[in-house]
Amino acid sequence: MENVIEKTERYVMHTYRRFPVCFDHGEGCYIYDINGKRYVDFLGGIAVNALGYHVKPVIEAVDEQKEKLFHVSNLYYIKEQAELAELLVKNSCLDKVFFCNSGAEANEAAVKLARVYGGEKRDNIITMEGSFHGRTMFTLAATAQEKYHKGFYPLPPGFVHIPFNDIVAADRAMDDSVCALFIELVQGEGGINVADCSYVKKLKKMCEERDVLFCVDEIQSGMGRTGRLFSYEWYEIEPDIMTLAKALGGGLPVGAMLAKERVAQCFKPGMHATTFGGNPFCMKVAKAHLDFLLSSHIIDEVPKKGDYFKRGLQKLKRFSVVKDIRGMGLMLGMELNLDSDSLRNFVLRAMDAGFLLGIAGENVIRFEPPLIIDYKNIDELLLFLEKELAKM
Ligand SMILES: Cc1ncc(COP(=O)(O)O)c(C=O)c1O
Repeated sequence: MENVIEKTERYVMHTYRRFPVCFDHGEGCYIYDINGKRYVDFLGGIAVNALGYHVKPVIEAVDEQKEKLFHVSNLYYIKEQAELAELLVKNSCLDKVFFCNSGAEANEAAVKLARVYGGEKRDNIITMEGSFHGRTMFTLAATAQEKYHKGFYPLPPGFVHIPFNDIVAADRAMDDSVCALFIELVQGEGGINVADCSYVKKLKKMCEERDVLFCVDEIQSGMGRTGRLFSYEWYEIEPDIMTLAKALGGGLPVGAMLAKERVAQCFKPGMHATTFGGNPFCMKVAKAHLDFLLSSHIIDEVPKKGDYFKRGLQKLKRFSVVKDIRGMGLMLGMELNLDSDSLRNFVLRAMDAGFLLGIAGENVIRFEPPLIIDYKNIDELLLFLEKELAKM
């Protein structure tokens, strides 16, 4: 372990504040470090490992494809890409897909498509305070949290930030200069903030009336995380654009931007591209992962498990340090009255006890376990949390 830490500190850029652990392998919801210690994963690689670790159908797809092709260019037709696109379209309200390699790239593609749709006069994009859309310059400008902007000015213009869940602010901001609105229906990095149903419905109607594209960033909330394949399904609305990544690739780097036909057709050959996006290897694995996710009915169980987990967390509100419990499905947050160092220490103590937890926003413990998490694991974690909170 010392060796890994020393090499990392010496040779890898210091863009992350890492926890002192290095993992070796995983099975189901369990992940093992290089010393053989077992952890129950309540973070899932930040909402990536929806099916946990060592997923048989995914490994089979890797084995099959590794003998064939890893990469061919998008100058040619790619069978595996066409098949994953078909599966996504048939399971969503969108019509066309552009594949890329990450969430930020999916949102970049969405910004470009929205700008083409809007034309030269309508180039502004509305985004929500507390949002997170990525770390590239466009997506950083879209991310309405100043702490991520510091040091990187000037940011690309054309993004208008408004308060989340505030329809009056949306009405005021949505003028003739606006071509699109981006929203995470459940904000992840911002601290697990859920959009109100009536707000979203009104917002969507307002967008329709003003020909503003309604774009949902489902990079964290998608792929079954909230108990439906996509969180927009809970709101009974249809987005014009949706972005995906994280759990889409079954652990491989896959992003996607989906759009309604009338919007998608604004992209003409040569307007957008990526070398690796949609390569046969990632597509084959992502398709096997999604096939299994859909056929196994794992998502159907998520609302029940999520409610059970949330009810358990809500009982912890009797401790004064717990400010709020929120979230949907297995995308839950516990807001604590702690500063960032104390929060980090909390996560470290959980690691000692064999649980991986995440942090979101300023003071929120984030729970995003693999969707296959067991009630027994949830009970074990709740017991740990109760004991830990009682000491504070
Ligand atoms: C909602 C949302 N959008 C975009 C991103 C950026 O994705 P990536 O890190 O794959 O670029 C993230 C990452 O956390 C996210 O949660």
